Amino acid sequence: PVVACVLAGGIGSRLYPASRGDRPKQFLEFGGTRSLLSRTVDRTAFADERYVLTRESFVDAVHDRAPEAGLLVEPAGRDTGPALVYAAWRLRERFDREPVLLSLPSDHHVDDDAVFVARLERAAEIAAETGGLVTLGVEPTRPATGYGYLVPADGGDALGGTDYDAVERFTEKPDREEARRLRESGAYWNAGIFAWTPTALLREARDSPLAGLVDALEAGEPERGFDAIDAVSVDYAIMERASDVFVTPLPVAWDDLGTWDAVGRTRSNRDADATNDRVAGGILSVDATDNVVAAPDRHVSLLEVEELIVAAYDDRILVAPRESSQRVREVVELLRDRD
Ligand code: GDD
Ligand code: MG
Repeated sequence: PVVACVLAGGIGSRLYPASRGDRPKQFLEFGGTRSLLSRTVDRTAFADERYVLTRESFVDAVHDRAPEAGLLVEPAGRDTGPALVYAAWRLRERFDREPVLLSLPSDHHVDDDAVFVARLERAAEIAAETGGLVTLGVEPTRPATGYGYLVPADGGDALGGTDYDAVERFTEKPDREEARRLRESGAYWNAGIFAWTPTALLREARDSPLAGLVDALEAGEPERGFDAIDAVSVDYAIMERASDVFVTPLPVAWDDLGTWDAVGRTRSNRDADATNDRVAGGILSVDATDNVVAAPDRHVSLLEVEELIVAAYDDRILVAPRESSQRVREVVELLRDRD
């Protein structure tokens, strides 16, 4: 059986002030009529079972947006590493035969659902065949620093014969220089979409900073395990050090809507002079280009500015250069420390 696990426990801090506390990015619509989470769950209809993996405080918000999915509630928010290990442990013995788990973030934009679903189904087969950790790889279009990079063995040549390849190295969120090098060497972006059996993930987790959590789970004490563990993403905790990692290509236009820059990039409702990305609200621009403006129910005028983020929600306003999109999380951390 194939079981989809949609991740929806993040706080989406890089999309402040649209994302705040009880309203992280996966619950927002961004111009569409359905939330990012609902759209992600829709794409998993082919799976034998599907779950949303989240934290206690988001349970109602998840249920409203994805009533058709089951809920897996992790004992505490500790990022995706502990969350996915927990899901593997919970689902491991649910079926007669070992399932393949497909883990999907809920902050993605995808342009072709049919191709996307076909690639997910194929990734599940590869995970069952190889017994390894399977990632979906996207061809990079720029030296992005917010993604993981997958270097295929043999520089990807082996993909000629099959549609997957071993991963020689996994590098999470490199700096700009390293990202440039990786891209030139033929690396893929990690789409953050994974396929694995619970056995494979738990095996790799035992050999990682999450080993203590696995012990606590096996002892039937998930709360104790989560209390004792630091937050860490699956990319740093497991993927960067695992040995049996495979990549299979995801040939669709794809974006992670985790930052304002990305939201601007994927918007289609550009304003009249096609120079500014308007996410919501009204806008007047005079000699202003390539700005991302997100200000529902407000009117924003821009004069001679370029590549800025202007985001206004509730009583909060954020102004920053687009290229600093990844750093918005630092603002949120500072604000949190002040409260
Ligand atoms: N259940 C649960 N619990 N989900 C979480 C948690 C948590 O504690 N923290 C984050 N998530 C969810 C988010 O809601 C999102 O859907 C998904 O996990 C990924 O988290 P992000 O915080 O958006 O990760 P990222 O974008 O920085 O990086 C990951 O995705 C990139 C591609 O989009 C990595 O896998 C990168 O390697 C990858 O390139
Ligand atoms: Mg993301």
